[in-house]
Amino acid sequence: MRQMIIGNWKMHGLRKAGTDLASAITTEIGTILKERDVVLAPPFTLLHHLFPLLSEHGVGLGAQDCHAEIEGAYTGDISAGMLADSGVSHVILGHSERREHHHEYNALIKRKVMRAREFGLCPVVCVGESGRQKEENLAEEWLGKQITECLPPDFDGIVAYEPIWAIGTGKAATQQDIESRLTFLHDALARHLETDDKSMRVLYGGSVKPEDAASILAVPGVGGVLVGGASLSARSFLGIARAGL
Ligand code: G3H
Repeated sequence: MRQMIIGNWKMHGLRKAGTDLASAITTEIGTILKERDVVLAPPFTLLHHLFPLLSEHGVGLGAQDCHAEIEGAYTGDISAGMLADSGVSHVILGHSERREHHHEYNALIKRKVMRAREFGLCPVVCVGESGRQKEENLAEEWLGKQITECLPPDFDGIVAYEPIWAIGTGKAATQQDIESRLTFLHDALARHLETDDKSMRVLYGGSVKPEDAASILAVPGVGGVLVGGASLSARSFLGIARAGL
C-alpha cells in the first residue's frame, strides 16, 4: 500500500507565507511522489489560491472540515460541494480540535463523511482517545465506538488514529502503541464494514517529527502520517515525507 503524508496547517498561513511554504514543498516533492502520496490541508482561505500549484505538482489539496448539509442558512460554514468546486480532493473530518471546540459528535461526523463522498471527496476521519481514557484502559472501547458511529457501512475513505494526548505535545505514541492500536482499528474496521480486507489506509497523527518519522512509517500496517505542527516548515515536512525512503 502506498503511504500518504498529510500536512494539516490548522489555522496557520496568510497568503504570502502559505504560498511560500507550498512552493518550497512542491519544488522538492517529485522524488517523494514516486513512493508516497502527499496532501496539504491549508485553511479554507488558501484552498482556491493553492490549487493550481499543488495540482501541477501532483500534490493533493485537503480541507480541514465541511458542513453536513448541501447548502443553506449556515453562516460561516463551507459545504462539501464548495470544496470540490475549489479543487479539494480530501477533507479531514472529526479532528479532535473540532470535537472539542465545535462540539462535534460521532453522528454529525458520519453525516459529514457521507456528504463528502457524495461530492467525490475522500474523507480522512480522525479517531483517538484522551490521556485519561488511555490510563483507564478505555481506549479501545472508545475507538471502537468512534469507528461504528462515525463511518457508514460502505465507508471507503481514510482513518487517522490521533491519540489526543499526543497532539501538539511533542510526545508521539511509541511504535508498539501505534502498532497495537492500528491492529485494533483494522480489525474494528473489517468488522464494521463486513469485509475480510484489512488494507484500508489508517494513518497515525500526533507530534510526528522528522527524527521519529522513519520509525513511525515503518510500523506494520501504518498507512502514512497526519502531520500538524511539523507541516508548517518545508524542511521538517519534507524530512517526514521522505523519511525511510
Ligand atoms: O492533524 C494533525 C494532528 O492534530 C497532529 O498535530 O503534529 O501538531 O501534533 P501535531
